[in-house]
Amino acid sequence: MKNLPIIFCLILSSLAFSVIGLVFSSNIQLGSLTPTTETLDESGNPIEGDPLFPVTMPGVAQQGEAVYVDLGCIACHTQQVRRAGFGTDIDRGWGKRHTVARDYVTQGHVLVGSQRVGPDLKTIGERQEDANWHHLNLYNSKIISGDRSIMPRYAFLYDVREIEGTTAANALQFEAGSPYAPAAGFEVVPTQRAEVLVEYLLSLKLNYSLPEAQISEK
Ligand code: HEC
Repeated sequence: MKNLPIIFCLILSSLAFSVIGLVFSSNIQLGSLTPTTETLDESGNPIEGDPLFPVTMPGVAQQGEAVYVDLGCIACHTQQVRRAGFGTDIDRGWGKRHTVARDYVTQGHVLVGSQRVGPDLKTIGERQEDANWHHLNLYNSKIISGDRSIMPRYAFLYDVREIEGTTAANALQFEAGSPYAPAAGFEVVPTQRAEVLVEYLLSLKLNYSLPEAQISEK
């Protein structure tokens, strides 16, 4: 036991090294990144008057981001497009360019993820611009991906209720004869949580270049 102080110091220093290596060195490299223009001028500065990217998400999409975190979508979905040559993300059409650290600087939660049970969602707002498609997928993903879909149902985000007078403007639109459609005289209406979650999904786009990642990449 007389070596206890030495063991303690070794444990402490290995923890300190890890923190310095992982947290501080990353912060030095990436901590000062800010939104910038798509290209830089000759001296390497943002071009004055050009729009800055990435933009901050609209407030309603930020609320949807909280629902995405809450429901644990990150357990199965990533939000990072890998570089051409390091996987098939770009060939699969999951993005026109790879993602870089700057793409995440305006986000409250960085939801990069690490498990890909389902497709990458970084550009889902470009691939699927139809809100009704997203609602159907959340209500029951079998409607979109067929009976073999393994994505959980999020039907609790929807109210199935009797139609009173006319159908609600935001009621889900099912294909004629769909076995998933509600019974005659009923409608499926998104709750506030479903509405903001879909706004978030629609905001997931990678349709701008950055100096370090141009959209022309192939
Ligand atoms: C258990 C894993 C799992 C969870 C959790 C999950 N998904 Fe999925 N998701 C999938 C799989 C797998 C697919 C691919 C098609 C299928 O099997 O349904 C998919 C497909 C999708 C698609 C369509 C993607 C495309 O490119 O067509 C969207 C959008 C989506 N999920 C959103 C979400 C959201 C939002 C949540 C959280 C509310 C979520 N998913 C939770 C597994 C999951």
